[in-house]
Amino acid sequence: MKERKGIILAGGTGTRLYPVTNVVSKQLLPVFDKPMIYYPLATLMLAGIKEILIISTPEDLPRFERLLGSGSQWGIEINYEIQPAPEGIAQALIIGEDFLADSPSALILGDNIFHGAGFGVKLNELSLDSMRNLTLFACQVHDPERYGVAEIGADGRLINIEEKPEDPKSNYAVTGLYFYDADAPKFAADLEPSSRGELEITALNNAYLKHSSVHVEKLDRGHVWFDTGTPESLSEASQYVQAIEHRQGVKIHCPEEIALHKGWVSSDKILETASSVANSDYGQYLTRMVKRHNSGHY
Ligand code: TTP
Repeated sequence: MKERKGIILAGGTGTRLYPVTNVVSKQLLPVFDKPMIYYPLATLMLAGIKEILIISTPEDLPRFERLLGSGSQWGIEINYEIQPAPEGIAQALIIGEDFLADSPSALILGDNIFHGAGFGVKLNELSLDSMRNLTLFACQVHDPERYGVAEIGADGRLINIEEKPEDPKSNYAVTGLYFYDADAPKFAADLEPSSRGELEITALNNAYLKHSSVHVEKLDRGHVWFDTGTPESLSEASQYVQAIEHRQGVKIHCPEEIALHKGWVSSDKILETASSVANSDYGQYLTRMVKRHNSGHY
């Protein structure tokens, strides 16, 4: 199997976060101590994915490029593509077709944050699994009617996904992380726009369900998932990150730390970054983190 590549979809209009999203992309806003896009980026890195495409609006894409660069500072490769208009999440696979070049993919939404014990190891395993055509990640929520809801049979198999149902068949929301096989761009190209004029990700996933093997990974207790698209959820996610980082003294989803841990960059490279931002909390953390890593007390 070719190596899985990653796509982060970070466009959209962000109307629920008005007024700030009139001038800046939602995915550039801070979630406590780092820009929102660091979290999905770190999630892909935890899954062992080193080739990543970022898709955003024509106005915002240059800002992402300035923030993240080529990715070489983390031992990865970051590419960039424009989505001219927010015509649906499934369109990311069409825009990304050339980049994917027949590789399997991991698509993640730029405003989705995942965290939990053992999640990185699990992602890595699932990313290497070539038996399934599609892996979805479902999380229990108290307000399933706001999401795509997974109807799961007694045997644990996915029966159907219903978009924002009035009468949800379960409490499991389908989250914004999807592992597809190499056929996803073809399936996406066959979709018709929905009544709201979008290529719907739920329609793509239901198309897979008809023809292929779909696995649903349930994220239960011990895992959190935030979709940070509203003022409340953005603030909640920030408080969560702050509380964990303060209690444990380690950062959540720090790309430098993941890269060092995976052996993708040297300590010296990270210390170089750290010294250029030495008066920030982030820079000081990098220095401490490298010391801890080198002393073996990890
Ligand atoms: P949404 O949160 O559904 O849409 P939005 O970001 O435009 O926000 P709002 O509802 O407040 O107007 O999108 C989920 C994620 O997918 C988000 O990270 C934006 C991204 N997205 C795109 O990049 N392009 C698209 O065409 C769509 C529909 C979403």
